[in-house]
Parts: sequence; structure tokens; C-alpha cells
Amino acid sequence: MYRDRLSLFPDTVALRPDKSGQPSLHVGGRDLNELAAEFGTPLYIYDQQTIGNAVQAYEDALSRHYPGPTGITYAGKASLNLAMARLMGAHGLLVDCTGVGEMHIARTAGVPRAQILMHGVNKSWADLQTGLAKAGTLVVDNLPELERIAQLVHARGTTPALWLRVRPGYAVDTHQFRQTGQHDSKFGMDADECIDAVAFCQRNQLPVTGLHFHQGSHFHAAEQVLPALDVVCSLIGRLQKERNWWPQALSPGGGWGVAYHEADLPHQSIEDYVATVAAALAESLSSHSLPLPRLQVEPGRSLIARAGVAIYQVGTVKRAGDRRWLLLDGGMADNIRPALYQARYSALPVNDPLNRPPISENAWLAGPYCESGDLLIEDLPLPEIETGELLAIPVSGAYQLMMASNYNGALRPAVVMLRDGVVQLAQRRETVDDLLLRDIV
Ligand code: LLP
Repeated sequence: MYRDRLSLFPDTVALRPDKSGQPSLHVGGRDLNELAAEFGTPLYIYDQQTIGNAVQAYEDALSRHYPGPTGITYAGKASLNLAMARLMGAHGLLVDCTGVGEMHIARTAGVPRAQILMHGVNKSWADLQTGLAKAGTLVVDNLPELERIAQLVHARGTTPALWLRVRPGYAVDTHQFRQTGQHDSKFGMDADECIDAVAFCQRNQLPVTGLHFHQGSHFHAAEQVLPALDVVCSLIGRLQKERNWWPQALSPGGGWGVAYHEADLPHQSIEDYVATVAAALAESLSSHSLPLPRLQVEPGRSLIARAGVAIYQVGTVKRAGDRRWLLLDGGMADNIRPALYQARYSALPVNDPLNRPPISENAWLAGPYCESGDLLIEDLPLPEIETGELLAIPVSGAYQLMMASNYNGALRPAVVMLRDGVVQLAQRRETVDDLLLRDIV
């Protein structure tokens, strides 16, 4: 009954006998028991093969379904550290950085300027200065920002390509905290503002070369992009007529969703999503007799979520009322998503995950923090689980550690990257001394 859950895990998941002969979960050629013993728990692991396969799926779909040039930007906000920035850079992706902080990570990782794209809805002067000096592409959110850019560019003489962020007036169907494209969203510019922005760039000799829109994150039906694409294509028609300008690059943002739980399966593929967007764009622009821009997709979650697994140890098994509680050594401090978005995850025990007899009592998986909202999974069928066992939560690669906190003095987990049995520690676990690093003693 737990077998479906295996397909939520990275592509390299396997069940192999551990030292005692029992089947245990392996990812990237490594036994999760051994990784937990070596690096401690909670532990986040990333399987590089699964990331490579997702990049390949985007590349194949783009070349199959779009007749013009294409590219992929990795939305770094989903998970960024030096190892991840290097990996995405080596795959040839642009790396989207929000502000000075993420720029610092990408630059320190050695991502070349041409592969750095900067986003931000309220960029500070420092963000803009860094973006202008160090990014290859800067996505402009609003007209006041463009005026600031004009001042800085003329002072510094550096000019990344500028793309304008369009607010298409349509969001995708997702949690409201993740919707961005609606008419009253804080992100981007409406069509008239975009026309003014192009005119401003033309007057000020600013290199505006692209348009961008992003309607929201974690949606599951590719057609939801089409109304926004229509708006943007008619904007391109107006821009051509009114300003004699059209984009060399067009980004429909990211947001393609993933399955987190067996109930979310089957999930439409990356290819389905890309095919829908690419075909609609090509058709709409050729009907306006406009040249095809570079189609630059911008996924985060769908590139890395399934590559990541979080491993926790069960510290206490408790019964309270009708509930069977499995209390873990991590929770809302490393994964706020269930509390923030009611995200629904699944889990498997690392040892003998599939063959144990089911029991009638579902499990409630919670962390050690002083909040009743510190709940990772509610009401999940699991076999009898004992204190000291390891549990693996799949699809943990995106937006978990990036939103992690030190709540209750929690220490951020270690992160390891796996490839063909080789383990690389990407980030060490925080220590109690790290908690004092910013304090003035
Ligand atoms: N491009 C832009 C401009 C974005 O704002 C985002 C995500 C992406 C691309 C990538 O979206 P993705 O492909 O990863 O869905 N914390 C939330 C997700 C917030 C997404 C923010 N922007 C969560 O945990 O679900």
C-alpha cells in the first residue's frame, strides 16, 4: 500500500539490503541509514542525477516544441547555496537571484555574469547597484525602479540587458500566498506601464530587450498560462505598432507544480507544460507576424523539489486522544510549508519501508518546537514505527531550507549532494555558536 510513495522519491531511489539484510531506502547509490549516521539528522540530501534529468526534460521539451531559440533560468529562491549555484551554472542555466544576498552566493560560486539574472519587487539601491554591476540580465519590476536604474547606469556605465516584468492580470490556481499575476498583485507593470517603460528606455538609451511574467507558483494545469500569454502577445503587438519595439527574449516565469503526496499522482509532465506554453506562444506571435523571441522558462521547484529528501529521526512515539504522534527531530524550523500553505507531504520509514503490515491508526508527524502548528504531516497511513527509527520525507528539495529559521534555537540541517554513490557535504549543520554570530558580546 505504500509503494506509490516510492515514485515521489528521486529517480535513483532503490531498495537494497542494509547490513542486517533488511531492505532500506537508497538514493544516489547511498543507504540513507549510513548518510544519517555520518551527517546526523535532520539531514537534507539532493540527488544530482534527478536534477540533471529534470534539466534535460526542460531542454528536450523546449527543443521539441518551440521553433525559436530557448533557454532555462533556475529560480534560485527555491534552493541556493554554493554547490547548487555551481551545479546549475555548469548545466548552462541562468541563475535567477533575488537581491544582493542571492547575487553574492551565485557570484561566489563562480557563476559568470552572463548567466546571472536579477529579480526583485522592491530592489534597494544596493540591489540595483549590484545588479547593474554584476548581473547579465535585470528584470525591472516598476517605473520608479527604471528611473533609479537610469540614474545609476549613467553614473556607472554598466548595462545588463533589461527585461520588463508584465502584470498580466491573471494568476494561476494555487495557494493565494503564491499568486503573483492577478490585476492587483504587487508584482510587475500593466500593459500601459510597460509601453511607458519601453518609451522611457528608448529615450534614455537603456538596453531593454525582453519581457517577463510570472503568474504564481505550484500550479498543475498548463492551460492556466494561456490567458496571460494572450495578454502579453497583444502587448507585443502594441509595442511593435506604438514603439517599433519587440522583445528578443520572453520569459513566462516558472511555477510548474510537482506531486508532494501520492494523492497528487499522476502529475502532468514538464513536457506537457512546456508544449502548451511553447505552442501557444509560437502560434500567437506568428499570427501577429512577429519574430519569435527566445523562450526563457524560469522554473525552480520542478527542477529540484523531487531531488531532495529530508531524513528525520523519531524521538518519541506518543498516543493522545485518537492520535498516534511521531515526534521528529525537525519540523517547522526546517520546513514551514505545511504551516504556511497547508502543504501536504508523505513519508516512508527508511528501513523495510514497503512490507510492514499496515495498522489502522494513522500517524501525525510533528517537530520539537513549541507550537502546535509545528506539524509536518497530518493523518498519514504508516506502519508501526518505533522510537529511534528514521523517516524520509520526499519532495523536500524546494523552498524548505530557504525559508528555514532558528526558531527555538533550532540549528539548520546539513545538506549533502549525491551523485553515483559519491557524497559531497554542501552545507554543514549549524552549531550553537552559529546562533551567536551576529550578537555583540
Ligand atoms: N520566477 C519568479 C519571478 C518567481 O517569483 C518564482 C517563485 C519562480 C520563477 C519559480 O517558481 P517555481 O517554479 O519554483 O514554482 N515559498 C513558496 C513558493 C514561492 C515562490 C516564489 N516565486 C512555496 O514553498 O511553495
